[in-house]
Amino acid sequence: MTEANCGTTSPHFTVRSPASERVLSRVDSSPYGWLAEPLHDISGLIVDIGCGTAPTREHLIGRRWVGVDLSSSELAVAVAAGRCPLVQARADALPVADNAADAVCAAMSLQVLTPLSAALAEIARILRPGGLLAALVPSRLGFAPRGWLGWASVLNALGVTSHPWLNPRVCDGVVKVLGRRSFEIVSSHRRTFLFPISTGEAAELLVDSLYLPGTSADRIAAAKHTLGAWARPGRTLPLPLRRVVARRQVLP
Ligand SMILES: C[S@@+](CC[C@H](N)C(=O)[O-])C[C@H]1O[C@@H](n2cnc3c(N)ncnc32)[C@H](O)[C@@H]1O
Repeated sequence: MTEANCGTTSPHFTVRSPASERVLSRVDSSPYGWLAEPLHDISGLIVDIGCGTAPTREHLIGRRWVGVDLSSSELAVAVAAGRCPLVQARADALPVADNAADAVCAAMSLQVLTPLSAALAEIARILRPGGLLAALVPSRLGFAPRGWLGWASVLNALGVTSHPWLNPRVCDGVVKVLGRRSFEIVSSHRRTFLFPISTGEAAELLVDSLYLPGTSADRIAAAKHTLGAWARPGRTLPLPLRRVVARRQVLP
């Protein structure tokens, strides 16, 4: 475990934020603010798992919060932005005591955490009985929403039919996955955010934000070109997300 220290770095945001946060910061309203809403009344420790650049931190100011991620480059951006405290560790080996957290938040991370079952067991271990898990995950596109054609052309250029997440079952199946473990579902809401694709730059950013292990550079360039050609002022791509809030069961 390594602790990343905000106090030793420049307070200015000098490191470029990864594409995923930059995409979600351009949509019509903040998905991170939406995720943080159910945690506003938490006074105890909130552990942000797979915090990345820690965008959620800005929505939980004044709370006892700690971000955990395995990537030193993501954490470096978080440090540069003054989003602390942070710990470099794996989600399946959290350096947090049993029952120590009042809440866990997981912004766009459950779909990529591996091994998922060990990470969920760790989340259940560190949460006190009755503690909350708030998670934001990608959701299905649904039937012919506005902008569907833009997505279809991007996926076609990439040679895939859907996003190749490591844990696709936690996307729309998150309620089922958590319900089978030691969690009681409090709420599950789907919301579609709109990302403006008005320029080629926005198209490139969107494609850069996609999780595409093993996709060739040619296909990625083709997807950027296709989406860039589709870009127009006023055009948007739908980003459907699901927010699930679950409570760690109080065992008899
Ligand atoms: C899609 S990013 C989301 C980051 C951030 N929460 C956000 O919303 O911008 C997923 C993050 O999970 C982290 N991650 C992936 N597998 C992990 C693991 N096993 N343990 C800890 N972090 C992990 C990655 O390093 C990455 O920062």
